[in-house]
Amino acid sequence: MAWKPLVFVITPFNQERSNLRAQLLGADYNVTAVSEPVDAVSRLSTEIPHLIIADHDQGLKEKDAFVELMAKLDGAAPLPILFLLERKEGEWLPTLVREGLDDTLMRPVQSLELLSRTSSLLRNRQLLGQVRIQEDFLSCRNIATFSREETLPTVLLVEDDPREMGNIAFLLGQIPCRTLKARTPAEALWHIRRIPPHLAIVDLLFPDLDGLELARYLKKQGETRHTPLLMLTAVPELDNRVQGMDSGPDDYLVKPVNSAEVLTRVRRLLARHQNHEKILGNNLILADQGFTDPSTGIPKDEFFRFVYPQMVNWSQKAHLPFTVARMRISSGKDFLRVAAQIRSILRDFDLDFITGENDLSFILPETPSEKAKIALSRILAKAEDMGIPPWEIRLVTVSIGEDGWETDRIQASLKPGHHRMESGEMEDGPGRKILVASRWGAEGDLADLLRSNGYSGVETVRLDARESTGKVQADLVILQGKADEVPGLLDRLLPSLPDPNLPILIRCTGNGDGEHVPLVPGSAEFIPSGVPIDYLLKRVSQSLDLASLRSGSEEVLQFLKNLVRFLEEGDPDIQGHGQQVSNWAVALGARLGRQKEELDALRWGGLLHDVGKIFLPQRILLREGMLSAEEFMIVKSHSKLGHDLFRPFSILKKALPIIKHHHERMDGKGYPEGLRGEKVPILARIVSVVEVYDTLLRRRPFRSAFSPEEAAKTLRDEARRGLWDPKIVEAFFEMIEE
Ligand SMILES: [Fe+2]
Ligand SMILES: [Fe+2]
Repeated sequence: MAWKPLVFVITPFNQERSNLRAQLLGADYNVTAVSEPVDAVSRLSTEIPHLIIADHDQGLKEKDAFVELMAKLDGAAPLPILFLLERKEGEWLPTLVREGLDDTLMRPVQSLELLSRTSSLLRNRQLLGQVRIQEDFLSCRNIATFSREETLPTVLLVEDDPREMGNIAFLLGQIPCRTLKARTPAEALWHIRRIPPHLAIVDLLFPDLDGLELARYLKKQGETRHTPLLMLTAVPELDNRVQGMDSGPDDYLVKPVNSAEVLTRVRRLLARHQNHEKILGNNLILADQGFTDPSTGIPKDEFFRFVYPQMVNWSQKAHLPFTVARMRISSGKDFLRVAAQIRSILRDFDLDFITGENDLSFILPETPSEKAKIALSRILAKAEDMGIPPWEIRLVTVSIGEDGWETDRIQASLKPGHHRMESGEMEDGPGRKILVASRWGAEGDLADLLRSNGYSGVETVRLDARESTGKVQADLVILQGKADEVPGLLDRLLPSLPDPNLPILIRCTGNGDGEHVPLVPGSAEFIPSGVPIDYLLKRVSQSLDLASLRSGSEEVLQFLKNLVRFLEEGDPDIQGHGQQVSNWAVALGARLGRQKEELDALRWGGLLHDVGKIFLPQRILLREGMLSAEEFMIVKSHSKLGHDLFRPFSILKKALPIIKHHHERMDGKGYPEGLRGEKVPILARIVSVVEVYDTLLRRRPFRSAFSPEEAAKTLRDEARRGLWDPKIVEAFFEMIEE
C-alpha cells in the first residue's frame, strides 16, 4: 500500500469521528479514529501519527493521558495538533495550544478548512525539520546559527469593514507584533513596498476584485514569497474564486472572527514565517562559510553527508518515507547552469546538493517512491530542456521506506537488536553470496550480524596492500573501512570483481562524517556511519533484489535478441531490420524530446516489432508475388501476436503499444485497430515511420529495393496523403541527413 500521512482523530462524538474520518480518507490521508486519548496511547505501539485532531475539552479533562501521548510523540519534531472547539468556547486562547505550533478547528467543521489546515500543519513540521538540520550542522562546527534581530514581526491587515478591522486589530494587540492597517488593496500595496510583512490577513471580497490581485502580487514577489496569506471570508466553501488560484491562501479566518482562531492562527503562521527566515538566514551563513557553491548557492558534499544520516534517523523515528536520488551529467556541459535551473523547480522543502564534479543529489523529504518518480521525472525533463541529451544523464535513486516503515518494522525497532526478516529475505539468504571486504578482513561483527539475519552466504575478504586478492565471487560486496581508507580499499577491490556493475555498499566506520569519501563510480553506494542497523539491513536486501533483477533481466534480454535473430535468419532480406529500426527510433525519439523511459520503449519496441511473425508459416512470409486476401489477413495478425507474446514481460510494458500498433496509419486505414490521427500512440508513429523507410530500402519478395531518394520521396508523399505523421517524417529526414 502506498504511503500516506497518518492522522489520529480523538473525539468522544461518534458522528464527528466518522465524519472527519471520511473526509480525511477522501483527501488521501490514513486515519485512525478513537474516542479517548488513552486509546490513542495504546495505538502507539503499532502506529505513529503525523498529525493529531483532538477535542480540546476532552484533552483538558483527561490531561494526563494527553500529556503522555505528546511526550511519546515529540521525539523527532513536535507533532502538531488541531484542537476541535465550539465557537462559543473560542473566546480565549485554548489551554493546551503550544505557541506557534498548534491550531484550532471550529465546529461544525467545514471541509475546506479541515483540509487546508491539515496540510498547512504538516508543512510546518517539514520546515521545523529543515531548520533543525541546519542548526545541528552549524552547531556541530561551532558556527553561530541565524537569529532574527529583536524587532517585532509585522502583520498587514487589509479589510474594508471598519468594525471587523477594529475587532481583529484589537486581538492582534495581544500578540507581540506590529499591525499595519489598510482599507484598500492600493493602500496595502503601499505598505508592502515599504515594509514586507511577515503575515498578511486579507479580505478578498473587495467589490473590484483587487484583493485577489493583491494576493497574487504578494506570492510573486521575492521578498514576500514566503509571507503567509490568511484569507478573511464569511463562507470559505463558497468562495470558488480562491480555488482557482495557483498560489492560494495558506489558511482561512472565518468571519465573524473569534479570538481563539485569530490568536492561534496568527501565532502559528508567524512562527512559520520565522522558520522560513531562519532557513534563508542559515543558508547565507552556510554560503559564507563555504558550505555552498558560490555561483548557485547549492550546498556541497559536506552538508549532504551530514544531512543524509540525519534524515534516515528522523524518518525512521517519525515514520516518514523520504527519497534520495543522485543524478550524474556525464558530459559535464553547463553543469552548474543546469543545477541552478533544476533548483528553481524543486518544491520548497526539497533539498539539493552538489556532490561531485558532475553530480547532483536530492533529498526529497516525506516523499514515497511513487511521488518521487513524478518529482524526478520533472527534474530530468528540466535537464533535457536545458539541452542535456537523455543519454548523458544517469539517475541513481535510492528510495527509503518504499511504503513507509511498515508496522512490523516499527515493532522490531522498539525491541533493540532484533530485526524481523521478511520471508522473502529468508529464502533469498542461502543462495546469495555477500562479501564483506575490509582492510584486515576481520569485520566479523558485520558478517555475524548478516548471518544472524538469515544471510548464510556471507564471507569476508582482506584487502591487504601486500597480497593480491584474486578474483572474487559475490552478488553484493559490502566494503567497510574508515573514511580516509576507503579510496585505497576501493582501488584494491575493483580489479578483483568479476563484473564492474556488481553492487557495492560502502559502510564507513569510525568518525568519518564530514571527511571526504568520494562518491565512487559505478554501482557503489555510500552508507554514512551512524545509520541504524535496521536501515543497513534494508539496504542490503534492496541491493540484492536489484542485483537479481538485473541478472535476471540480462537473460531475458538475451532471449529477446535471440528471437529477433531467429526470425531474421529465415529471410536474408530482412536481416538487421529490427536492430536498425530500434537504433533509428531511439535517436528520433530523443530528437523529438521523448523521455528516457519512452526511449527504452522505442529501443525494445523497435527491435521486437515484427517478432509476432515467428508464428506465421514461412511459405506465406517468403511468397514471391502478391498474397491472397486470406494470406494477407494472416500476415496482418503478426502485430497482435507479437503483442500477446510479450505481454507477460513487465520490462516490455511500455513497448507493447508500439508492437501492437506499428502498422496503424494516421488516416485510419492501418491495422489491427484502424486507429486514426493522434489516436495512434506517438511511439508507434515514430516506429512506423522508421520502419517503413527501412523496409523500402530492402528487397521484398514482390518488389526490388528502393534507393534512399526514392524511399524518401515515397515516405514524404505518403505523409502528405495523411498516412504518416508529417512532423515525425520531417524530423527523421533532418536526422539522417545530418
Ligand atoms: Fe517491420
Ligand atoms: Fe510489421
